Amino acid sequence: MTAAIHGSRPAAVVCGLGGGTPPRAVTNDELAERLDTTDEWIRSRTGIGQRYVIEPGMSTGSLAVEAGSRALKSAGLGSVGLVVLATTTPDRPCPATAPEVAARLGMTGVPALDVGAVCAGFVYALSVAAALIVSDTVRDALVVGADTFSTLLHPADRGAGVIFGDGAGAVVLRRGRSEEPGALGPFDLGTDGEHAELIQIPGGGSAQRAGGEPTRAHDHYFTMQGRAVFKHAVLRMTGSVRQALHRAHWAVEDVDRVAAHQANSRILAALAEQLGMPQDRFLSNIDRVGNTAAASVPLLLNDAVADGALRPGDRVVLTSFGGGLAWGTTTLRWPELDIA
Ligand code: UT7
Repeated sequence: MTAAIHGSRPAAVVCGLGGGTPPRAVTNDELAERLDTTDEWIRSRTGIGQRYVIEPGMSTGSLAVEAGSRALKSAGLGSVGLVVLATTTPDRPCPATAPEVAARLGMTGVPALDVGAVCAGFVYALSVAAALIVSDTVRDALVVGADTFSTLLHPADRGAGVIFGDGAGAVVLRRGRSEEPGALGPFDLGTDGEHAELIQIPGGGSAQRAGGEPTRAHDHYFTMQGRAVFKHAVLRMTGSVRQALHRAHWAVEDVDRVAAHQANSRILAALAEQLGMPQDRFLSNIDRVGNTAAASVPLLLNDAVADGALRPGDRVVLTSFGGGLAWGTTTLRWPELDIA
């Protein structure tokens, strides 16, 4: 029985990591020039000091290519058998962005797909790639989280407008064994579609088109009921982390680092309290990049490796939450890898 639980199994193993943000940083003071807000309010209510935004000529796809190329270099690979891109801001509504990202990275002929689970997207994309690896469908995979929410925000929205930023992060997975460093543990995934309206872009989809309603420009902007979302985020990530730890046979005390979706530093503090974990186990780069949606977790991993906050052997929990509502968590022992 013990052998069945703890014994060696096929697993998807993290073997490469990359990340990137566009060059243009927007400070809180710059936002306060056009929104009714202040640097003090944003820092104290969210922990965010600045965020990055794309400029003309860039897109989610271009950020994904940059992060993906760094992750492939980190893995020492020129190509992989699968590309999965988590995003809510594809380059176009149709087709998916992943095939073009794959092609721009020199990979035509490989399966490539977008995964949509908003800010939980990266963990969902990891689970899809891991399942295809473990089932022997592909040998390895590039999993990218990339978003450009700056393109979705209403210019007068001071709620969502101050927290989101653009960026991309990526990992490479290869087929390996569950006892290896970097092997992804069991996933906990879930959704609650009864609260779909809390985070949405109301227009542009089939529901509006089929109703024959005229398209209003306003409907194409992102909307979020921040206070309600905050509560769900804490509740769902707490439950999901507990489930994933249970499935991995880890105790709360076993965890060295938590890489949680960077939506608001007060959410991270509440999550630490609910889980009974010291806050200093929570990795954070929200001050520098804000909430980068599907890019948040891999970009955080990349920054944490770069600044030494995440080290080989650390037992890490990856957890995320977003529109859907959707949430997901997994675990791994951090592997030895170089980043570009
Ligand atoms: O990424 C995936 C999921 N997303 C999240 O997890 C985000 C979760 N939500 C949040 O992070 C927060 O709800 C926000 C940062 C979006 C908003 O912060 P809050 O502390 O929840 O503010 P609130 O919406 O409850 O508003 C509190 C007050 C209001 O004023 P009154 O009614 O008390 O007078 C707002 O009008 O703060 C006001 N306010 C602001 N004031 C200055 C809201 N946004 C701002 C702002 N600057 N940017």
